Amino acid sequence: MSSERDFSDIITGLAKKRGFFWGPSPEIYGGSSGFYDLGPLGKLLKNRLENQIRSAFVRANFWEVECPTVSPAQVWKASGHLDGFIDPVTQCTKCGQVYRADNLIEEKAPDINIAGQSVEELSETITKIGLVCPSCKGALGPVETYNLMMRTRLGLDQEAYLRPETATSTYLLFRRFLTFFRDKLPASVFQIGKAYRNEISPRQGMLRLREFTQTEGQIFLLEKDEMEWPQFEDIKDEKLPLVTYKAQEKDNYETVMTKMADAIKKGFFQKPAYAWCVYLGYDIFRKMGFSEDKMRLRQHLPTERAHYAADAWDIEIHTDSFGWVECCGVHDRGNYDLSRHQEFSKEKLHVKVDKKPVVPEVLEIAFGIERPLFCLIDNAFRPETKERDTDWLQFPAEVAPIQVAVFPLMGKPELLDPAHEIFNEIMDSGFVSQFDVGGSIGKRYRRQDEVGTPFCVTIDYTTIEDGTVTIRDRDSMAQVRTHKDKLVDTMRKLIKGSVQFDTL
Ligand code: GLY
Repeated sequence: MSSERDFSDIITGLAKKRGFFWGPSPEIYGGSSGFYDLGPLGKLLKNRLENQIRSAFVRANFWEVECPTVSPAQVWKASGHLDGFIDPVTQCTKCGQVYRADNLIEEKAPDINIAGQSVEELSETITKIGLVCPSCKGALGPVETYNLMMRTRLGLDQEAYLRPETATSTYLLFRRFLTFFRDKLPASVFQIGKAYRNEISPRQGMLRLREFTQTEGQIFLLEKDEMEWPQFEDIKDEKLPLVTYKAQEKDNYETVMTKMADAIKKGFFQKPAYAWCVYLGYDIFRKMGFSEDKMRLRQHLPTERAHYAADAWDIEIHTDSFGWVECCGVHDRGNYDLSRHQEFSKEKLHVKVDKKPVVPEVLEIAFGIERPLFCLIDNAFRPETKERDTDWLQFPAEVAPIQVAVFPLMGKPELLDPAHEIFNEIMDSGFVSQFDVGGSIGKRYRRQDEVGTPFCVTIDYTTIEDGTVTIRDRDSMAQVRTHKDKLVDTMRKLIKGSVQFDTL
């Protein structure tokens, strides 16, 4: 492995070689930027992340729903996406290549803060820093806006768009939710499903996709609930790594571990319910396996917020490939969406408070799954050492694509039968196991280290004599023998982290 290689190339190369993701897709036709295929291990990893996400939302009293991914144009007119979901672009006047203006400026002059600049200001910045077309050195044209939604049509002529977020499709169900939740608010729902963004020139591989899987949790609530949110009590002493928008006025801003109760007192958050949402998003990322020292919560500058957001905080993950990567947005959407859909659809999307119609507020936790998936592989990468002759992946056990590999020492029936029995028991307990008979045990350990499997179990002739098997720990490479009757329980404890390997 050459140390000169860019780290993101190492991760992407490893991901392709070991079957996590491939692309741009379709590879055999040259590929289209922004589309990737998940290989067998990437799909397993994504499933594990989705399991963690689902379980966290359901525990927090959210109900899962699923909506169509295509909606007629009037939905997107109402949501504001037709007018407001735009990127600044510039076209080369010589070769015609189109670029995202903000990306080009950030690459050429990373120290310039362009957050919130208008198209006119971006044009001026391009002139000021002498930016030219990266491919032909021609002059760049004026910065213009470009809508990110993918257009299609329904039947012969009805204009429609693939959804750029799951959120809007969720809001359209508000009247149905009121019935389901027996007219009681707060009410919380979430979706996990595909969303599409027609990025102008997607780079950074898996981090900027034109088709991706989004997870979005939505809470419908009244203004009074936002201020009186009982669940805030449970998290008020939790410390989170916060960077407020004011802190970002300094060039080298720092993250400050701040108790949530203090964050409210200091006015970082105005509303306990919103602060709780930020915490929930952070906790979901912890459950997906990110360590706290790789995470921070950064508040958007007022000029940086999406058209619907009254306040917004991002969860960012630190990667060796790209530095801090924005992975999740927590948005206070106010009553913007329901008001707009009420106005455009002419359907009543309000509730009665003291006999008066009130349009509820919405708080949202929103993220695509492919970004954390990439970041997790980046964070898990460990280079080869003297002791281990391969680079390997240190995934947290709960989200590892394969959690337990099962090896019969040899492919003989007297070993294959008990090994299959153990493999089935592990699969029945809800973990993902791989059965591997090929090559020496050392080679099999190596293959599992390369894909981040935390535990391997070997069945040998001693198993036939006394019922014990060997468990091998990926991180320490140590081994212990345990009775096969205790294996599944031991695995459950090891994977959940309630028992450490060195205490077995
Ligand atoms: N629903 C918010 C987003 O897509 O970022």
